[in-house]
Amino acid sequence: MAGEVLRLRGVGVKRGGSDLLRDVTWTVNEGDRWVIVGPNGAGKTTLLQVAAALLHPSAGRVEILEEEIGRTDVFELRPRIGIASAAVAERVPAGEKVIDLVLTASYAILGRWREEYDSTDLGRAVALLEALGCADLIKRDFDTLSEGERKRVQIARALMPDPELLLLDEPAAGLDVGGREDLVDRIGRLAEDPDAPTTVMVTHHVEEVPDGFTHALLLRRGEVVAQGKVDEVFTREHLTACFGVPLTVDRQNGRWYARVAR
Ligand SMILES: Nc1ncnc2c1ncn2[C@@H]1O[C@H](COP(=O)(O)OP(=O)(O)OP(=O)(O)O)[C@@H](O)[C@H]1O
Ligand SMILES: [Mg+2]
Repeated sequence: MAGEVLRLRGVGVKRGGSDLLRDVTWTVNEGDRWVIVGPNGAGKTTLLQVAAALLHPSAGRVEILEEEIGRTDVFELRPRIGIASAAVAERVPAGEKVIDLVLTASYAILGRWREEYDSTDLGRAVALLEALGCADLIKRDFDTLSEGERKRVQIARALMPDPELLLLDEPAAGLDVGGREDLVDRIGRLAEDPDAPTTVMVTHHVEEVPDGFTHALLLRRGEVVAQGKVDEVFTREHLTACFGVPLTVDRQNGRWYARVAR
């Protein structure tokens, strides 16, 4: 049996008297491609922060890559996890070069300081930026990039340490239709690559779920509405319960579509 990459049991996160997550029990196995879907404020980013060992839960047990949170050194664990999230992008220092942002991922740090990189690292960073269609951005400052360019650079950074777990928080948010389709396509190719890391992607839109994603978890108000195989989870009943509006759901050419039922 494939190993467990994430194992959450009865996980809760409380902030300022409210439950951001409540009683989340979830297992991600090696090789799975999961999507987490839910409305604004459902707790998706919070759940991804827990899975990235960036946020300690208030209740329950979390194991990441077979290390138990609370009993392991998270600084050793974090370089094994690649994360692309607006919460990370906000912390990029002004004037940081794109190439340095990708290179520093090997150390799970932000801001180039005094690390030494060898030519293998540099070659890998350039190859990842090329694979994501941003070879021409290598020498630019990250803070001068457009939203779409930033998203791609962040995915290259997340992949840089050859992570065992890849976490993508709304990778297509803020992109125009062409940019979104291009990114969905690239993430889809990654999902279909058997050598790519176990992946968890967050989105509001089932339309942004590439073909090749195997599992889905629906969140509403901090609680799991449904989870399991994508085609068993993306039903009219489950998505209606998740978003709190009556939805119809279709599937065409491997992609999903949800609309408000009239
Ligand atoms: N420090 C905090 N104190 C109180 N509430 C918080 C705190 N941090 C986050 N929240 C709330 O927790 C809820 C879940 O936030 P989270 O960012 O996980 O949602 P999300 O599903 O990612 O939403 P979105 O789709 O808008 O990104 C939100 O209602 C948010 O306002
Ligand atoms: Mg979010």
